Amino acid sequence: MGASSNVIRFEHVGSVGLIRMDNPPVNAINHAVRAGLADVMTEAANRPGIQVLLLMSAGDVFSAGADIGEFDRPAEEPSQHMVQARIEAARVPVVAAIHGLALGGGLELAMACHYRLAHTTAKLGLPEITLGLIPGAGGTQRLPRLIGARAALDMILSGSPVSAPDAHASGLVDEVVEGDLREAALVFCRRLVAGGLGPRPTCDRSVASERFDEAGIAEALRVHSRALKGRTTQNLVIEALKAASLPFSQGAEVESALAHRSVTTRESQALRHVFSAERESGKVKGITKPAQPPEIRQVAVIGAGTMGSGIAMAFADAGREVTLIDNAEDGLARGRAMIHATYTSSVKRGRIRQSIADESIGRITGSMTLADAANVDLAIEAVFEDIDLKKEVLSSLDPIVPPERPIATNTSTLSITELSRVSAHPGRVLGLHFFAPAHVSRLLEVVRGSDTTPETVATALQVAKVLKKVPVISADAFGFIGNRMMLDGYFREAEQLLLEGALPMQVDRALEAFGFAMGPQRVSDLGGNDVGTKARLQLYKREPRPDPYFVIADRLTELGRLGQKTGRGFYCYKNGSRDALPDPEVKGLIETMSAQRGITRRLISDAEIVERCVLALINLGATVLEEGVAARAADIDVVWTRGYGFPRHLGGPMFYADTVGLGHVAERLRHYHEKLGHYWRPAGLIRRLAASGLSFEQWDSNRNQ
Ligand SMILES: NC(=O)c1ccc[n+]([C@@H]2O[C@H](COP(=O)([O-])OP(=O)(O)OC[C@H]3O[C@@H](n4cnc5c(N)ncnc54)[C@H](O)[C@@H]3O)[C@@H](O)[C@H]2O)c1
Repeated sequence: MGASSNVIRFEHVGSVGLIRMDNPPVNAINHAVRAGLADVMTEAANRPGIQVLLLMSAGDVFSAGADIGEFDRPAEEPSQHMVQARIEAARVPVVAAIHGLALGGGLELAMACHYRLAHTTAKLGLPEITLGLIPGAGGTQRLPRLIGARAALDMILSGSPVSAPDAHASGLVDEVVEGDLREAALVFCRRLVAGGLGPRPTCDRSVASERFDEAGIAEALRVHSRALKGRTTQNLVIEALKAASLPFSQGAEVESALAHRSVTTRESQALRHVFSAERESGKVKGITKPAQPPEIRQVAVIGAGTMGSGIAMAFADAGREVTLIDNAEDGLARGRAMIHATYTSSVKRGRIRQSIADESIGRITGSMTLADAANVDLAIEAVFEDIDLKKEVLSSLDPIVPPERPIATNTSTLSITELSRVSAHPGRVLGLHFFAPAHVSRLLEVVRGSDTTPETVATALQVAKVLKKVPVISADAFGFIGNRMMLDGYFREAEQLLLEGALPMQVDRALEAFGFAMGPQRVSDLGGNDVGTKARLQLYKREPRPDPYFVIADRLTELGRLGQKTGRGFYCYKNGSRDALPDPEVKGLIETMSAQRGITRRLISDAEIVERCVLALINLGATVLEEGVAARAADIDVVWTRGYGFPRHLGGPMFYADTVGLGHVAERLRHYHEKLGHYWRPAGLIRRLAASGLSFEQWDSNRNQ
């Protein structure tokens, strides 16, 4: 058939012209797909005997959208607009049959078809906003024509896909199908023909604009305010949707101009940087993906505390069998209770169905004997943070776990290399540093000890994949990547500012206004000041730190002001509420500590708070890179945006440093070095890059060449 190409296949099924996209793995709409579709539309629609065209896809998904690799290049013709204009103008009706996912450009393509049906399990969405973009291939013009402007605004602002039944209810799809999609779609097509139903171009429809007035728009922005904090893309979305009330071609022009604008914003560049960084973070020099990825079916988790239970849930949710082992009966009982409580609350909040919760719970088996780790594919210890105890657990596990399978430790402070030496096979020992809550947080630091083998790391990367977590490789050093930068950089500086004159509320508010999900003192109160104190005591054994270092947080721990759990920490919490209220007692305590250190307290501006905390973070990030603890600046951005609440729309600390310019960063570091002393010495890497006018991004790409 002349109409077929490598990625677009054409087949005659009676009077139906079946067009199939086949561009694995996700049917991304790249130039070849667009060109193929444009050709097939012209040719096939005019072929004698064809009365209806059906657009489907091979593989697991209809289409995950435009090819992100083409974003920064000038678009090669035919554009998606041209393809869609041909579809809408076709002489015969064009039907899209959607399975798996129709996202972004994939959904825009489907919306340009005259009719849509979807398999009941399919999901449809316009996630562009998560990359700081607006749907730019007609999405902002056709979606409101199908479901109304207000519903379109909600869907585009949320960026999350909707289910096929919801899409049907809103009018986005005409029919939801169970069973064989191809058969159902062919029946649908024949019905159209039999009923004499012709083309129905979406562009000719009018827009329902109820509740799309100023009040309705404000309401939608309020609903999505958390995700949109500090963002600007929503303004472009609103402008584009307003233009949908114009004749289609005029609205489409407005959309194009706004879409071009969205691509060039710093916000979009930052969001796309983090998106690509997350896709790259699992690729590591010297680690080749094994042809046959190691199977992770059965996992043992030792220690049923906060982390162990969370890790067990993460694996159970991924369909893996877990043996959760604790040596204390009450430890195991607490773990079980926590797991039940977590699932009960998830069901109550409508996050998962009871049957799914039951299945996950059913995959976790409690045990009090290490011998039950005998046939596992992976063992992870999460017992108390005590080196002797961990060594004892690891050496007892070593002869039990099959010798070719990895043994991981979830330590946050101890040396992986030292722990690995108790094993007869130190190469199989590594750190899997999960973040609380372990079944929710998407970040996983994979820590290589000196002896950890590439095969062990490859298995860890597979584990991340199974758990749908983003892995970042760290070398075995004080605090790994994230905690090192938090302790020596960000949090340390926040405490220093308290000693110099700021108060917790001011520091937190300033950093929250910058975009952090939560300020450092509120974070400490949430996690427990005692947890930080204990972890630091362990870390000091590895490397001491000069005074003052977390003197306020440690004093609060001493006073039993552990944070939210005791109702008092940096703040006061009334009647179990999470509202952090300023506490005059803490103010007094901080003022006394300043006086004891001979510090004259002064008024500190919010701008200084933000600048110092963020600069400290950047400087430590550069140190972590120089020391080879992190391999790429982009990895650090992943750690900080995924694990520590750094605003994603600023791209992570290292990307942010690039955007303000390393010359400026170096100059400000020198300024604070002169004013505040040794700690502020600019990292050598920053000095060198600034001197040669380079960025962290360039440093990353030079190293990876
Ligand atoms: N809590 C966090 O936010 C966090 C984050 C990352 C990593 N970590 C690390 O995870 C590990 C566990 O921390 P946690 O907060 O879950 O601790 P936890 O105190 O909540 O739980 C530890 C569990 O280990 C059990 N245990 C102790 N000795 C044991 C043994 N010999 N055999 C089997 N079980 C034993 C205890 O009974 C207890 O149930 C620590 O290494 C910690 O540093 C904690």
